Order: sequence, then C-alpha cells, then structure tokens
Amino acid sequence: MDGKVCMITGANSGIGRATTQGLANLGATVVMVCRSRERGKEALDEIRQKSGNEDIYLLVADLASQAAIRSLVEDFRKEHSTLHVLINNAGIIPRKRMLTVEGLETQFAVNHLAPFLLTNLLVDVLKDSAPARVVTVASDMHRGATIDFDDLQAAQSYRPLRVYSRTKLANVLFTYELARKLEGTKVTANCLHPGVVATKLLANAMGLPSPLKSTTKLIGSGPEKGAKTSIYLATSPEVEGISGKYFVRQKPVESSEISYDESLAGRLWKRSAELTGLSEM
Ligand SMILES: NC(=O)c1ccc[n+]([C@@H]2O[C@H](COP(=O)([O-])OP(=O)(O)OC[C@H]3O[C@@H](n4cnc5c(N)ncnc54)[C@H](OP(=O)(O)O)[C@@H]3O)[C@@H](O)[C@H]2O)c1
Repeated sequence: MDGKVCMITGANSGIGRATTQGLANLGATVVMVCRSRERGKEALDEIRQKSGNEDIYLLVADLASQAAIRSLVEDFRKEHSTLHVLINNAGIIPRKRMLTVEGLETQFAVNHLAPFLLTNLLVDVLKDSAPARVVTVASDMHRGATIDFDDLQAAQSYRPLRVYSRTKLANVLFTYELARKLEGTKVTANCLHPGVVATKLLANAMGLPSPLKSTTKLIGSGPEKGAKTSIYLATSPEVEGISGKYFVRQKPVESSEISYDESLAGRLWKRSAELTGLSEM
C-alpha cells in the first residue's frame, strides 16, 4: 500500500483502530478521523510505533455535525491531493434518543448521513485518484429492517437496536446506489459485516461497562479479526473492480432482499441529499 492514501473514520477504537493498524503495517498513508483529539493522538502514537510507519495523520471531527464533516474535508484537502481508500467505519448505538446540532436524530446522523455526506464531499478526489475504493462497515443487523420515511428521525418511537438496524440497512442501500452512480469511474463501493466483535459499541448495546470487563470471557471476536474484511476490501487485488457487494468473512454474500430495492435506495439517496444540503451526484 506504499503511496496509497486511506481515510478511516472511528479510527481510535475497536474495528477502526485494528483496521488502521493493519493499513499502517502495509505501508499506507492513513488519515485517521476521530472525534476526540486525545483518544485519536493516543491511538496514532501506538499505531505509528507498532508499524514503524510515520505516515499516519489525525483529523478531528464529530461526525454528528455536518458542519464538522465539511471542515474535515477542507482540512483533508489542504494536506492531501489524492485519496485511494475511504473507509466509513464510525458507528454508534446511543441508548437514548438525542439530537445533533442540526436537529437530526444522532444515530441516523452518525451511522448513515455522515458516511453519505463525507463520501459525496470526497467523491471528486476519489475519482481523480482512481482506481479508488469506498468501504462502508454495515452489519448483518440490517436483516429484517426497513426504512420508515414517515419517521426517519425516530421521533415517534426510539428503540436503539431497531434504529441501529435501520441505519445499517441504510449503509447497504447507500453502497449499492453509490456503486450504480460510480459505474465506469474506477471507484468501487462495497460494504461488509465484520462479525460480532468485542468493542465499546457491542458492550454499550448489551448494557455492559466495557468490552473487556463485560464478562470473564470476551464476547465476540477480537478487533483484529473484526478488521480483516475491511482491510481485505481496502487492499486486496482480488476485489479490484468489484463493486456494489456485501461481504462477510472476505466473501461476497447476499444481503437482505429489501436492500436490493433500487427505488428504495434512490428515495433514501434523495432524502439524504436533502437532509445534508447536497445537490444530487
Ligand atoms: N462490534 C460489532 O460486533 C459490530 C458488528 C457489526 C458492525 N459493526 C460496525 O463496526 C463499526 C465500528 O464499530 P466498533 O464495533 O469498532 O465500535 P467502537 O469500538 O465503539 O468504535 C466506534 C468508533 O466510532 C467513533 N465515533 C462514534 N461516534 C462518533 C462521532 N460522532 N464522530 C466521530 N467518530 C465517532 C468512536 O469514537 P470514540 O472512541 O470517541 O467513541 C470509535 O472510534 C460500526 O460502524 C459498527 O456499526 C460492529
């Protein structure tokens, strides 16, 4: 991955941190996007030290804020003129409904609208750097979910895991629609399920204090195993030119039936563009 520039969100913890370490070990230039400078710096120092790769950088942005995502992209463009891999990894499952500074439900904003906006704002750099890849960390939790356009902000009913499943279905629908829009550009878009991985997110979803303290035994696999499919999709020559697929354990598998509904994907794209103030790609 020498000479390749990668950006990854949620890079300081769990699957994102292990993915960053893997990319750093392979010699990539990695831009870590983290919401806390302190947590980001701690991860960056360890990743540089373990990999011996100095080309690891930190950009701080709270992905719940669209203004912060726009500044993040400006900051990135000041330092870098190419981007070969964008990994939309950051995700949350807040136990209570919260609103962002823009007045949107936070889980939907961070898990779906943030990757949507970030990718759209960077798509010209990705195209100019092609071949390039967009990798979005979805989840098998998308199965069974639907998109409720009458309550996208979960104002009528907020059940954390139900909202999570919807945002993960949105990740899959977004990836397939993006792949269709990017046909012929040499920029690919794929998404994945990382497995059940012992991270802060999982512990929080289960109401446990932290992944390691959760029980005497770790629940789920370790983050290194959880990062394998992200690293595979970001780096492997085997997936060069492959786009619009959902991967589990480094293999393309069928996602839920509804995730292939092109009119649903188109409608979600349009609504997401409205909610983020973007004109359509
Ligand atoms: N763990 C699993 O079993 C599992 C299964 C399927 C899919 N996934 C997906 O895997 C991805 C990574 O999650 P994980 O399990 O590795 O969880 P994690 O350890 O909690 O990591 C989540 C990362 O996202 C960052 N983040 C959260 N909110 C943010 C915001 N507003 N702005 C910027 N960064 C933010 C976190 O930053 P802080 O450290 O500052 O909180 C952290 O770095 C998620 O998309 C999740 O849906 C996980």
